[in-house]
Amino acid sequence: MGKVTAIVSGKGGTGKSFVTTGLGIALARRNKRVLLMDLDLYFRGIDLMLGTDDGLLFDMGDVFNGNCSPEKAVYSCEGIGGLFIMSASQGMDDNIDTNVMRSLINALKADYDYILIDCNGAGKAFEAAAVESETVIVLTDAEPLSVRCAEKMSCRLKEMGLHNARLLMNNFSEKVFFRLNCFQDIDEIIDKIGARLLGIVPEDEEFAFALQRSSPFGVRSKAVYAFDRIAARLDGIDVSLFIE
Ligand SMILES: Nc1ncnc2c1ncn2[C@@H]1O[C@H](COP(=O)(O)OP(=O)(O)O)[C@@H](O)[C@H]1O
Ligand SMILES: [Mg+2]
Repeated sequence: MGKVTAIVSGKGGTGKSFVTTGLGIALARRNKRVLLMDLDLYFRGIDLMLGTDDGLLFDMGDVFNGNCSPEKAVYSCEGIGGLFIMSASQGMDDNIDTNVMRSLINALKADYDYILIDCNGAGKAFEAAAVESETVIVLTDAEPLSVRCAEKMSCRLKEMGLHNARLLMNNFSEKVFFRLNCFQDIDEIIDKIGARLLGIVPEDEEFAFALQRSSPFGVRSKAVYAFDRIAARLDGIDVSLFIE
């Protein structure tokens, strides 16, 4: 059965889609079968980042409306073997049945080693994804508002009885961190959010540009190395958090 991981953040624009895509590519490069579920019901974007947007005929909305089977709404990603995507409909409302969403995730598990779910941190789709996930990756960057939102997110998960949150610090730049001077060190952020650190993804213009151009596959840049290490860690390999 595949491992399900939801990627959430309290604040928008912290890099959920960036991280979901980067991690998905890194896991596929480890010869895993990976499904990316874009559950951002208003602003789906992974199809654009992977260049699969033109070919998408069916999406999750069609599955829920009974227009197609779940398999029909899954598309393989041409740029790399083993990577697949299922997108939310654009403007799909969140008034979905949580149990139906949970069943969909469960049914898909058998076909993949990993299912990564990109979702914002509210609503029924989020609840279903969080409950079905072995790990919920809570994202933040070093801005105080993002940290506050991630803190709320982590509390919300605990209120739901889920104690599987892992923190991922994204878009990290040491220079900006110390210039901002809002937090003494990363430990202060970890303590505030109350979740174990899974990794730090640096600010990386090269990978960000590659995603804008729908061609992230051949890039070997800072964030890509971080994703490789996080993917290894998710895969149960003991890789240290920091590059010595
Ligand atoms: N580590 C990073 N380095 C550089 N740019 C980043 C990084 N993470 C996110 N971005 C950029 O920030 C913007 C928002 O990221 P996105 O993944 O769309 O956020 P979200 O899905 O959480 O709304 C995008 O332009 C993305 O390329
Ligand atoms: Mg997004």
